[in-house]
Amino acid sequence: MTQNLIVITGTPGTGKTTISEIISRELGFKLIKIADFVKNNNLILGYDKEFNSYIVDIKATRKKLEMLVSNPKDFFIIEGHLLDVIPEKNVKICIVLRLDPRILKKRLSERGYPENKIKNNIESEILDVLLVEAIQKFGKEKVFEIDTSGLSVKELVLKVIKIIKTGKNGTPGNVDWFKKLGSELDKYLL
Ligand SMILES: Nc1ncnc2c1ncn2[C@@H]1O[C@H](COP(=O)(O)OP(=O)(O)OP(=O)(O)O)[C@@H](O)[C@H]1O
Ligand SMILES: [Mg+2]
Repeated sequence: MTQNLIVITGTPGTGKTTISEIISRELGFKLIKIADFVKNNNLILGYDKEFNSYIVDIKATRKKLEMLVSNPKDFFIIEGHLLDVIPEKNVKICIVLRLDPRILKKRLSERGYPENKIKNNIESEILDVLLVEAIQKFGKEKVFEIDTSGLSVKELVLKVIKIIKTGKNGTPGNVDWFKKLGSELDKYLL
């Protein structure tokens, strides 16, 4: 099986789409934006009012993606936070973008997200939800993380490309929002 997929993931608002567009252009890889892919292929089953998010047909999406990436000569950047739809056998590297919850909160508020959706996402970021999920799905040797807090888009792009090219410089374990937020934590987790 050719490993022809680079996954860029992270909590909503961490910058996945922004940097994936640039990186796919620079490296000459095709780009799959999971959110657009499910919309364009009618893979949405409904809307979850409680969580303010779409319900995706995971099985069908996965099948369609498997077909799309089946040619080993094609290389892809695939970006999104729905890891269940990604054919893990094709994954070479998965990069998890992390962001200081305080900055993330500001970004999501500016997007006009409802209060409970902001809270859910902040909690996921603090609890390393996507990092843990990525390690479970792809294996720890394939997973990298970057603290994007305070990095410009350009700086971040360079870091990601470095990881893709060398397979180094982003071993998980350097992000600890519990420690960084300290006594401020309860403001975000309650
Ligand atoms: N390194 C950065 N520095 C400052 N702002 C950034 C950076 N990266 C992205 N942004 C801004 O943050 C916002 C969110 O970025 P983006 O839409 O790429 O996130 P996303 O992870 O794709 O979110 P979603 O999961 O909801 O699609 C955008 O307004 C973008 O311009
Ligand atoms: Mg996006």
